[in-house]
Amino acid sequence: MDAVPDQEKLDKPPHAEPTAPPRRTHAARPTRPRKELGYPKGWFAVAMTRELARQKVLRRRLADQDIVLYRTRTGRAYAVDPHCPHLGAHLGVGGTVEGENLVCPFHRFAFAPDGTCAGSPDGAMTRGRLRHHHLAERNGIVYLWHGHDGAAPDFEPPHAVSATVTATASWTTSIDAHLQDVVENVVDNRHLAPLHGLRSVQASPIETNGPELHLRMSRSAPGHGLPGLRTVQGEASIVMEGLGCTVIRVRLTGLRLTLYLWSLDTPIGPRRTQHRQVAACLPDRPHRPLTDQALSRAIAWTAVRSTVRVIRQDIAIWTHQRHQRHPHLARGDEAISAYRRWARQFYPAPDPTPPRTTKLTGR
Ligand code: FES
Ligand SMILES: [Fe+2]
Repeated sequence: MDAVPDQEKLDKPPHAEPTAPPRRTHAARPTRPRKELGYPKGWFAVAMTRELARQKVLRRRLADQDIVLYRTRTGRAYAVDPHCPHLGAHLGVGGTVEGENLVCPFHRFAFAPDGTCAGSPDGAMTRGRLRHHHLAERNGIVYLWHGHDGAAPDFEPPHAVSATVTATASWTTSIDAHLQDVVENVVDNRHLAPLHGLRSVQASPIETNGPELHLRMSRSAPGHGLPGLRTVQGEASIVMEGLGCTVIRVRLTGLRLTLYLWSLDTPIGPRRTQHRQVAACLPDRPHRPLTDQALSRAIAWTAVRSTVRVIRQDIAIWTHQRHQRHPHLARGDEAISAYRRWARQFYPAPDPTPPRTTKLTGR
């Protein structure tokens, strides 16, 4: 009986002439997986203070991990790993706050603010403890620290813009983009006119100081319903504190107030960013609190709504954008180079390849 020929033999014609080695074409080249940027370290917004009321439990996402936030009866806010050390129930799904303790929904073991077990219905205790995350609240925004391999914070949480300012307006969405590209949009002056129809002139070169980046821009934008303003003109001072928090401060002299706009970006998964647009106003005239409060809220909401209109145009780009590790920058893109050099400090290892982003190739 003939042996059944194997597949390799069947595929070769009998007595085939030796052939030249296949030419290497671009399509045949093995593709190397693209090196992803990973998660930067820093302080990232996870909630608004008003969402985290007393005795409330929230479930949030940071760097592809669930985190549970809760606020005790006396008003202290905490963030912990999600799974109960007893048998692993998720504390953010049915967990409750009783007094100062977080109580697991499964067997109702209670955990004190220091993470230790404080009691249970039958008096039994577990020696396991909850792992806490570093949390800070500023101007009505709740920030959590994300460090590489669980490292402790090595820079301060975002500074409060003023002790009396609380963010009153906010909007959030999640975007299929790496937050480094989302944040880069702030310094990318060149896209403002072609994509958004805005006129903007960078008024100062970028200055960096450790985790902080500062610049000023003169802006001219449609008023979008801001009372008495067809266009908003003025100098915007922009401060980034890490990659998670950008605050834009605009002085609206016509309205006698200062507008604060926060752009808050949180890495929630691989190439997935939670973006929050938050605003608050600080009036010049503290002697008319009720009128000013109502006006400030209205202006903050108008500012958020008009910013959202602009950001939707960005989202259409970001969603399909590829992160260019070595972009071919043009004259006028110096702010992008400076931003990228500054942003490297937030990633675990320095980029081993030469910093080609500084080379300007256009005319
Ligand atoms: S799993 Fe939480 S108390 Fe048992
Ligand atoms: Fe934009």
